Amino acid sequence: MPTSSGLFPRNFKKTFPIAVRGKGCWIITADGRRFLDTSGQAAVVCIGHGIPEIGRAMAEQSSQIAFAHTSQFHTAPAEKLAERLLAMAPPNFRRGGRVYFTSGGSEATETAIKLARQFHLEGGQKNRYRVLSRRQSYHGSTLGAMSVSGNVARRAAYEPLIPEWGHIASCFCYHCPFEKTFPQCQLVCADDLEVFLREHGAGEAAAFIFEPVVGATLGAAVPPDGYAQRIAEICLRNGILLIADEVMTGMGRTGKPFAVQHWGVEPDIILVGKGVASGYAPLGAVLVSARVVAAFERGSGAFMHGFTYQAHAVSTAAGNAVLDYLESHKLFDRVNTAGQKLCAALSPLQSHPNVGDIRGSGLLLGVEFVKDKATHEPFQKEQDIAEKIREACLEENVLVYPTQGCVDGVRGDHILLAPPFTILPEECALIARALQSAVARVFAS
Ligand SMILES: Cc1ncc(COP(=O)(O)O)c(C=O)c1O
Repeated sequence: MPTSSGLFPRNFKKTFPIAVRGKGCWIITADGRRFLDTSGQAAVVCIGHGIPEIGRAMAEQSSQIAFAHTSQFHTAPAEKLAERLLAMAPPNFRRGGRVYFTSGGSEATETAIKLARQFHLEGGQKNRYRVLSRRQSYHGSTLGAMSVSGNVARRAAYEPLIPEWGHIASCFCYHCPFEKTFPQCQLVCADDLEVFLREHGAGEAAAFIFEPVVGATLGAAVPPDGYAQRIAEICLRNGILLIADEVMTGMGRTGKPFAVQHWGVEPDIILVGKGVASGYAPLGAVLVSARVVAAFERGSGAFMHGFTYQAHAVSTAAGNAVLDYLESHKLFDRVNTAGQKLCAALSPLQSHPNVGDIRGSGLLLGVEFVKDKATHEPFQKEQDIAEKIREACLEENVLVYPTQGCVDGVRGDHILLAPPFTILPEECALIARALQSAVARVFAS
């Protein structure tokens, strides 16, 4: 980073090359280096970098009308994208559902929290205002979103956060918080929701928010079959809304349009972000199911919430162009096969004594590094293994997304792989080679 930079960086101790161009899975910097982007930056870029028709669609929209305030107007690209997202969603969204567009994932989480609270007010249940979530989760960086997130490291600097209620157990079979094994566990982690509600007063609960597949915090931890269904049943039985945070998993990343569709679950609200505009524009969305919409229509008629840039015409035009590209290039259908190819390329890594687990769904994969493969014992935080793997991959011009804390919020090292859906077999091989060499070098020292 030039010392004269006016940008407030994420980290003053790091240097940041200037990205000037992107093409497919590659990012090119001002000094001419080419980086293989194995994580779509942060599971954002799903159609690949540098696709000219997206820019053209955005330019066309902005030459017509770039901005019209949602208190006065709706725009055609926002109407069109809303309809298309609802058509991809579970059945309870398709007739009578609506979409609230935001500028990203955190705004979507904030919107959902307020939406859930007002939903209960509309039904005369004033006491229902608390939002429950899981340890080891991430729902965004604004304080409301961070309060429902369970990610220890990302919360630490800001505690105390706004008043929060509590977190239930995560669902993470590789490091089961109950030290049990599926299916003998009988999904005790899902029943933890019921236990919490019983002990803390279900009558105050407005909603439960969860990532169907936990992305950054746990490195693509997929729940066992039956978990999401059990959670949905408990929410329904206790009169609380189920919010599926699909900011990372949505828009096809796990091989279905939305990850909850792997288990036939119908949440009340679905959050999307990241892949919805593939990084071409800041865009997020809250998909609201028909029964929640009906409560507002029957009740006050107005949601007491808003952002200046919600449903932005150029961002939603980008969203439509991205969806056109996904459909016309049949990229949704590519996710599972590309994911299998990447897993197959990575499988030789599994024999390394410090590679504990390779997991995930579709093109959302995690590789976890452990000190002891038999016991799954993690390295100490200070050893900074995930970061060292990132640095070693970077030496080979391969970008990976490292995170620590998957075991207990502090210990546990993994990297996340979430490349564009267009990834080629030779690029999968390149990732595997770079990771193998990084693992060999990091653990040799
Ligand atoms: C599951 C999940 N929810 C919410 C967010 C927040 O999205 P944003 O960074 O766009 O505000 C993220 C971002 O990583 C995420 O992974």
